[in-house]
Amino acid sequence: MTCIGIVAELGVETRVAGTPVTVRQLVELGYDVVVEKGAGESSSFPDDSYIQAGAAIVGADEAWGSEVVLRINPPTVEEIGRLADGATLIGMLSPGLRPELVEALAARPITALALDAVPRISRAQSMDVLSSMANIAGYRAVIEAAHEFGRFFTGQVTAAGKVPPAKVLVAGAGVAGLAAIGAASSLGAIVRATDPRPEVADQVKSIGGTYLKVEVEEEMKSSDGYAKATSKAYNRRAAEIYSEQAADVDIIITTALIPGRPAPKLLTAEDVAGMKPGSVIVDMAAGQGGNVEGSIAGERVVTDNGVVILGYTDLPGRLPAQASQLYGTNLVNLLKLLTPDKDGVLTIDFDDVVQRSVAVVREGEKTWPPPPVQVSAAPAAQTQATGAGASAAGTAAKKTGISPAGKAGLFAAGIAVLFGINAVAPAPLPQHFTVLMLSIVVGFYVIGKVHHALHTPLMSVTNAISGIIVVGAVLQFTSDNVVMQVLAAVAVLLASINIFGGFGVTRRMLAMFSAGKARS
Ligand code: NAI
Repeated sequence: MTCIGIVAELGVETRVAGTPVTVRQLVELGYDVVVEKGAGESSSFPDDSYIQAGAAIVGADEAWGSEVVLRINPPTVEEIGRLADGATLIGMLSPGLRPELVEALAARPITALALDAVPRISRAQSMDVLSSMANIAGYRAVIEAAHEFGRFFTGQVTAAGKVPPAKVLVAGAGVAGLAAIGAASSLGAIVRATDPRPEVADQVKSIGGTYLKVEVEEEMKSSDGYAKATSKAYNRRAAEIYSEQAADVDIIITTALIPGRPAPKLLTAEDVAGMKPGSVIVDMAAGQGGNVEGSIAGERVVTDNGVVILGYTDLPGRLPAQASQLYGTNLVNLLKLLTPDKDGVLTIDFDDVVQRSVAVVREGEKTWPPPPVQVSAAPAAQTQATGAGASAAGTAAKKTGISPAGKAGLFAAGIAVLFGINAVAPAPLPQHFTVLMLSIVVGFYVIGKVHHALHTPLMSVTNAISGIIVVGAVLQFTSDNVVMQVLAAVAVLLASINIFGGFGVTRRMLAMFSAGKARS
């Protein structure tokens, strides 16, 4: 049976690549698991908890000597030397930014998988550590800001006077930005957000924020789930918005990033100087050069006008138990993919786009970089709606539809058929047939106009129609005709499934809304 070793991290890192919960899941996949002594201590997972989950606690050498080694941070050269021949190392390796690490790994007869290179496609979301860590970081950025901010987030009316709600601006509504918007609005703040990708507007709104659109004649489209660089016109208009907002808001959280480039500078020193004393900025991109002039990676800076700028780069590590749990779960999901038979045997399939994308080194052979993976994150409707830059896809979609003249012709033909049938059919068929046709037309247009996202609640609304079907079918049970009885029974069965299914769906949706309300 293959042995997985969870090794300790170095230095100030508080997270660990496996928790008792994920160890149990690895054991269920058929693996033996060993954990380096004390590896989980700073995430509040004592050695005993791993033993109870089915792992053995071992020394560093034994853990590093396992057939599969799980880690969060990239290994040092010395640690690479500790890996056994034929071993597989899985962790956040940043291969795109660290060519020297890739070379060092390829110098050993090992396999190295970079969990931070998972492509942004829906199938791979459960393994996407960048997203799970950014989500935690966005939340923690709000908590850090709240800790520094000398006031409430929520507005209150108290006996001692009225307290206005805090105003928060989130720049960049990617994974971290959306988590920050959600956390700040659930604390009661007024939250605004910017992002060059217009498709995020609905997401921002759905979690309680207001999307500030930068009105320029261009459109940001993404082919790989990440943003592209913005134009000069966009940057000019955005700079005006940031200056206006800086003077108005209390807290700014910046998360803007374009992969492979230094972070765009969004807030100038003048913008920061224009903020009220006591305001707080969290520059989440400080590690990539920063979105804010004056922020320092890893540091807390207080400006002359009393604005606190936090450039912390270890935000996920400030929630170590949570971060380890999500990271560990991402690892388990990758290992499920690599262990199709759940027999504790790790197999890498290079034809699978996810497995190919994460492979940096295969048995000593460098396999980085992988072929690019194209994903469109922009919904088609959005691309169609962009005035000047209407996309070719949008135009093509329009062309394939039926022309207005064709529609009128079809409509006239339908009416003619209806009249024809009504003229020859015996009573009471014409009356029933007309009602049926009208119901189909009305139903088609009503349902056709409902947004796809609302089809599930719509299904629960059709309970009323199903109720009428049940009543009608029950009346047919008394018929002497066996065929009628069978049809009635089938109608009752299908309509009941719709009714009970509808109630089930409605209950789940209401539960979701009440959970959301309870949180906010
Ligand atoms: P993401 O790629 O999901 O989001 C970045 C967002 O920035 C995108 O929505 C993009 O459209 C937007 N953006 C790009 N250019 C912009 C501009 N000029 N103005 C406004 N928005 C712009 O990235 P994710 O995962 O949300 O990470 C955000 C940042 O947080 C990154 O810099 C990342 O490295 C950092 N991060 C920091 C951590 C810390 O401890 N400080 C931990 C995790 C992530």
